[in-house]
Amino acid sequence: MPVTAAAADVRETNAHGADVDVLRRQDPEIADVLAGEGRRQADSLQLIAAENFVSPAVLAALGSPLANKYAEGYPGSRHHGGCEYADAAERIAVRRATELFGAEHANVQAHSGSSAVLAAYAALLRPGDTVLAMGLAYGGHLTHGSPANFSGRWFDFVPYGVDAESGLIDYEQVRVLAHEHRPKAIVCGSISYPRHIDYAEFREIADEVGACLIADAAHPMGLVAGGAAPNPVPYADVVCATTHKVLRGPRGGLLLCGAELAERIDRAVFPFTQGGAQMHTIAAKAVAFGEAATPAFTAYTHRVVANARALADALGQEGFAITTGGTDTHLITADPAPLGSDGRVAKARLAAAGIVLDTCALPYGDGRGIRFGTAAVTTQGMGAADMERIAALFAAALREEPDSAGRVRSEVRELADRYPPYRG
Ligand SMILES: Cc1ncc(COP(=O)(O)O)c(C=O)c1O
Repeated sequence: MPVTAAAADVRETNAHGADVDVLRRQDPEIADVLAGEGRRQADSLQLIAAENFVSPAVLAALGSPLANKYAEGYPGSRHHGGCEYADAAERIAVRRATELFGAEHANVQAHSGSSAVLAAYAALLRPGDTVLAMGLAYGGHLTHGSPANFSGRWFDFVPYGVDAESGLIDYEQVRVLAHEHRPKAIVCGSISYPRHIDYAEFREIADEVGACLIADAAHPMGLVAGGAAPNPVPYADVVCATTHKVLRGPRGGLLLCGAELAERIDRAVFPFTQGGAQMHTIAAKAVAFGEAATPAFTAYTHRVVANARALADALGQEGFAITTGGTDTHLITADPAPLGSDGRVAKARLAAAGIVLDTCALPYGDGRGIRFGTAAVTTQGMGAADMERIAALFAAALREEPDSAGRVRSEVRELADRYPPYRG
């Protein structure tokens, strides 16, 4: 069922009775930007794998008076006064997160997925330690050893890859590299791997070499909440995640761990890598965790996967080379080369048609593919028949002559119009 509010008109989603016209009267320039973004989200197809439409309740928490509150520290032990409601919000968020994922401890203060990974490294590693993680060329995140990121600068990353033919993680290669390099930590998780990760296998490899296991489950964590993907919590020493993406909460990070690491993780977030927590975001995380614990969310996550499978199948019929031959998750990566374009050209042509997605690395060669997901369109209420339509629109956008782009664009708009992300 689509969430209900007015995304196309952000005035409707302002919380707490604030006069929705205040922003327009005071700052029409920014009001126009917000209204434009609302229209953009509503009249094109949001297929970026990491995006979703949060509920009006999550938006209300984000726009709440907790946005004004400073709350350095943790509930019951803050450096600022007046934290009784901030404490309540954080305690509720922590309780809901631990219950949702079956973890002994949750830290809900990480400002983002990257901050969560930084805190996990800070808790478990020392600068110069060796870390085994998926190479960026295969779908590793920037925090998995990019030279442009703190991770690549401060740690000695050894990359593992995926099999060039199947696109699947080669667990034997991971094992061989682990035994050869004896890493202090192994990271499992990716920005583009469309299949379930075998956390038990990673745990076994980590144990063989005495390494910690860090699961960076930013992408599948929403599916985990709904029982549509395996849970890394029983296997990893620390699980890092984002609260946006399929989980459909505010932009932010989350860390889960056992009781024995709780204090180290908390201190790695604050005061080691962050200052004051963003209490409005933490309240919004609590709302999202509450939503994710409902049967409706469980059904949603299974629909997300069914839609991704339907879309992957239909795109395969249209000639796209689907990496790994399909998907277990919300996420699909594909090579558009059989349709005559590489990932960058495909992204631009699809964007012109109102289909918004990313490029990605491919398991073989230097070419780029496209990466997309079904979390947002499923929130809008789209189903299998719509996925077939979207696949046909992909093919039309890439195959047709430039002057037919207008026709594809209007078909995309017509499809998007049938499923407004918010109703006002
Ligand atoms: C696997 C993984 N780790 C970390 C992140 C970083 O999250 P953020 O952009 O919130 O810092 C992402 C974001 O896409 C991700 O996919």
